[in-house]
Amino acid sequence: MNLRTAVCALLLALPMAGCDSVDLDAVPQAKVGCETPTADQLNAGDTMLPGRNCLACHVSGGQADHEAFGTAGTVFGARNSKTCNTGGVSGVTVELLDTAGKVVASTTTNSVGNFSFPPNATNFKNVSARVTKGTMSVKMNSAVDVSVGCANCHWASGIAGDRIYIQ
Ligand code: HEC
Ligand code: HEC
Repeated sequence: MNLRTAVCALLLALPMAGCDSVDLDAVPQAKVGCETPTADQLNAGDTMLPGRNCLACHVSGGQADHEAFGTAGTVFGARNSKTCNTGGVSGVTVELLDTAGKVVASTTTNSVGNFSFPPNATNFKNVSARVTKGTMSVKMNSAVDVSVGCANCHWASGIAGDRIYIQ
């Protein structure tokens, strides 16, 4: 248990906010061109901050370091989504594939389009990805290091040039 966890455990007894405190402004690189989130989206949990780079916080030494992810992100319903707060798609299968094209990890997006993989799900340093819903499927051709968080590359000014989408 780290110090923050210990202090928060003590504070749980009091009607006080701030233990799951999420400070988006402290990690401006997480914002990846998104609009200001709603107050609700700043609450820690699986529907938080869609579109933003989860791995800016969910890493060892980050704000959510005892909830580190292997990788994570959000799938939107169309190309060039202008919003992050809305437009995510639920029920999308997100698969990671090794360089031979074999699926090595799989998960499903939640109600806001967010998904995450636990740190031990696979080797995240050299994988491609595929998103599928019904008859729609979109695949990343290159194998990359996804441990930086999908949104690190997937936004208008990132090297993928767009958010992850399915349409
Ligand atoms: C600005 C920092 C920040 C960003 C960006 C962020 N989170 Fe979080 N997240 C937190 C913090 C802080 C917690 C609370 C961790 C704790 O329990 O101490 C949290 C908690 C969570 C939890 C709950 C973990 C649990 O078991 O209680 C989930 C799930 C989660 N985040 C998913 C995501 C996803 C998915 C994204 C990206 C779409 C994301 N987060 C982006 C800071 C962030
Ligand atoms: C290091 C940068 C980087 C990271 C991290 C990254 N991607 Fe990509 N992604 C790209 C690039 C560049 C392309 C376009 C070229 C290609 O398909 O290889 C792309 C394309 C895609 C496409 C196809 C889009 C299209 O229009 O055809 C999907 C789907 C995708 N990525 C999903 C993901 C998922 C899911 C993650 C996280 C698990 C992720 N990507 C992480 C760089 C990245």
